[in-house]
Amino acid sequence: MKKTINIAVVGLGKIGSYLLNELNSKKKDIYIKTGKKIKVVAISARNKNKKRQFKINKNIFYTNPLKIINDKKIDILIEAIGSSDGISKKIVEKALKNKIHVITPNKALISKHGDYLAVLAEKNKVNLEFEASVGGGIPVLRTIKEGLATNKIKKVYGILNGTCNYILSEMEQTKDSFANVLSKAQKLGYAEPGNPKFDLNGYDALAKVKILSALSFNNKISNSKYLMEGIENIDSKDFEIVDQLNYRIKLLGITEIINNQLFERVHPCLVKKNTYIGNVNGVMNAVILEGNPVGESVLQGEGAGPGPTSSALMSDLLSILRGNIKYPFGISDNRRKKVKIYDMNKYSNSLYLRLEVKDKPGVLSIITRQLAKFNISVQRLIQIPDNKRKTASIVIITHEANELNSKKCLKSLKVNSNILKAPVLIRLF
Ligand SMILES: NC(=O)c1ccc[n+]([C@@H]2O[C@H](COP(=O)([O-])OP(=O)(O)OC[C@H]3O[C@@H](n4cnc5c(N)ncnc54)[C@H](OP(=O)(O)O)[C@@H]3O)[C@@H](O)[C@H]2O)c1
Repeated sequence: MKKTINIAVVGLGKIGSYLLNELNSKKKDIYIKTGKKIKVVAISARNKNKKRQFKINKNIFYTNPLKIINDKKIDILIEAIGSSDGISKKIVEKALKNKIHVITPNKALISKHGDYLAVLAEKNKVNLEFEASVGGGIPVLRTIKEGLATNKIKKVYGILNGTCNYILSEMEQTKDSFANVLSKAQKLGYAEPGNPKFDLNGYDALAKVKILSALSFNNKISNSKYLMEGIENIDSKDFEIVDQLNYRIKLLGITEIINNQLFERVHPCLVKKNTYIGNVNGVMNAVILEGNPVGESVLQGEGAGPGPTSSALMSDLLSILRGNIKYPFGISDNRRKKVKIYDMNKYSNSLYLRLEVKDKPGVLSIITRQLAKFNISVQRLIQIPDNKRKTASIVIITHEANELNSKKCLKSLKVNSNILKAPVLIRLF
């Protein structure tokens, strides 16, 4: 690789503008560590006149990023626009086809088109790096690709969305409602101001799970059946109850291989207060990897924000500058398997159930009979009466129950006239 490396930064929002400042202020460091001089020769965003956090050089500004590739000799393109399709995909595609290395924090793009883009990168002998797409500043992808390169990884799980973890931690501490805590998170910049739907419904964490699976198990990115539940329906009442049972509620992303089949899921979990994952609070992210021979590896750090994300982008840059040319998913595309998908209806898990019922004789036995009908056995049962309203909360922790049976059982309970609200189900982890 030549001594001066031309860089284009496409997208100058929260991430792109912070990164641009890092690139400009760390040139000397980069030279000392890699022997390469970097030069930002093109930048792009929609609006040339928008006021940005850091000063930009308007002489190298493009409103159409695709033009950069025709006009300038670029060695590395950093895509920080976002979204899985549209201009983000087009510019990455065009760069790779023109033998330009690409770095991106865009998990939506990689989790949807990562396989195709990895083939393009491999064919054109350039890097496609996406460390910042999972866990922000936590160097988890490089840890899997390099640090744990010869391990057989069995399971990866963790807290992969800082917005959700902040909301759940805050609801637990303040006993405030989901809506109030969400609005506080938005004011503090921890949740998107407009529509944070993709954080809250588990979609963002699932995109990260898919990338983690592909790297950990050497499989192609799956787009089949998955279990995705968010935190939108978590009630402050559940925090009070699970607190007494010595649990916390966390949104976990989990991927594992069961009988040679891939099982990916994102859903709220009850985790014991004295576990490691139970003590990762606020906007923190954490990833736990179980492998052989390494055992358990734990990585924790800030999962988002311009600082941690830029830290990961810079590590991708230095990897390329050091000539670390790699297959994007660790191994060549033709060795990556199309993995079979585990049928989640076969899965068994202990459950936390909360049912709001009419407080009258016989209701409890109706519920326990219904559970028994679907082979769900009770480990613990608590009844919390509300004498004023003549209602009661029935809280049940079950023994391991089959997923399909639980779904059917809940459906039958939902239509029972003694049950006043849709039952709450949270899986134990
Ligand atoms: N924010 C985080 O904490 C975080 C963490 C990890 C990963 N990421 C990922 O980083 C990426 C960028 O996120 P962000 O938060 O920086 O987004 P953002 O603040 O919304 O910035 C998006 C940038 O893309 C530009 N853009 C949009 N359409 C364009 C087009 N057609 N041509 C050229 N530029 C265009 C926008 O231009 P204007 O400024 O002119 O509107 C803006 O500068 C996303 O993939 C995101 O998932 C973000």
